Amino acid sequence: METKDKSSNCVIDETSARRLRVWFDDYIDTFDMQDKELSINIALKREHTLRVCNEIAYIGKNLGLSETDLVIAEVLALFHDIGRFEQYRKYRTFVDSISVNHAEFGIEILRENSVLTTLDSSTAEFILKVISYHNRAYLPDGETPACLFFSRLLRDADKLDIWYVLTSYYSRSSEEKNRAIELDLPDTPGISPGVYKGIMSHSVINHSLVRSLNDFKMLQAAWVFDVNFQPTFQRLYEKGYLDMIRDSIAESKEIDDIFSMLRSCLEERIFLGNVSGLL
Ligand SMILES: [Fe+2]
Repeated sequence: METKDKSSNCVIDETSARRLRVWFDDYIDTFDMQDKELSINIALKREHTLRVCNEIAYIGKNLGLSETDLVIAEVLALFHDIGRFEQYRKYRTFVDSISVNHAEFGIEILRENSVLTTLDSSTAEFILKVISYHNRAYLPDGETPACLFFSRLLRDADKLDIWYVLTSYYSRSSEEKNRAIELDLPDTPGISPGVYKGIMSHSVINHSLVRSLNDFKMLQAAWVFDVNFQPTFQRLYEKGYLDMIRDSIAESKEIDDIFSMLRSCLEERIFLGNVSGLL
């Protein structure tokens, strides 16, 4: 994939970019940080957002994006989870299926607060559309190459940081459990048959199949099949996230088989560059 053909054709000048960063900080400051549970989860998503900004810049620079497109990428990362804060304040959960679709909710918040109105309308609509695709199971057909390219970029950056957050969390002691991160899933042994079947057939796992915390960990491991760009594979490999997920699950032959298959797929993609035609 030639990145020069995937230019967003959108422009955000430095003054506007600065104003958007200030709006983000001011918006986060509107949440009640005296509420301990709320403040922990607001901080979690704020830090996630800022790291996704770094991850998208890392991938974008490695793919040779222009400075203009790197600013677009940063703004996408900055606002991709803007719905998460109000979602938690209002519903006390990050589970979309029992609250709201956090991507769509974020778009409502950006519109209600007229956050993107100083940008030209095509740039604003491009940003909203890519945000709306960041948590979809699959990207839609019929979108422009630029929209698909930036959607893939955002999804890769988001996954890199979710792997970081979750593997850091799994390595902590049980006294520090955060049910919001675990999506209130039961920590029962083994994995569900549908999850095993899906992952062994090299598929991403649909959230509807997830019944336990182990299933959720396998869903995250199966994201290997939903990564788009070579720098993302490289980062995943170097950080050792797959091994960290593996180490957080009790020993079993089934789990060992899954992770040896996933490691082979990852190494194949890195060392043989077998990435379905994508960079
Ligand atoms: Fe998200």
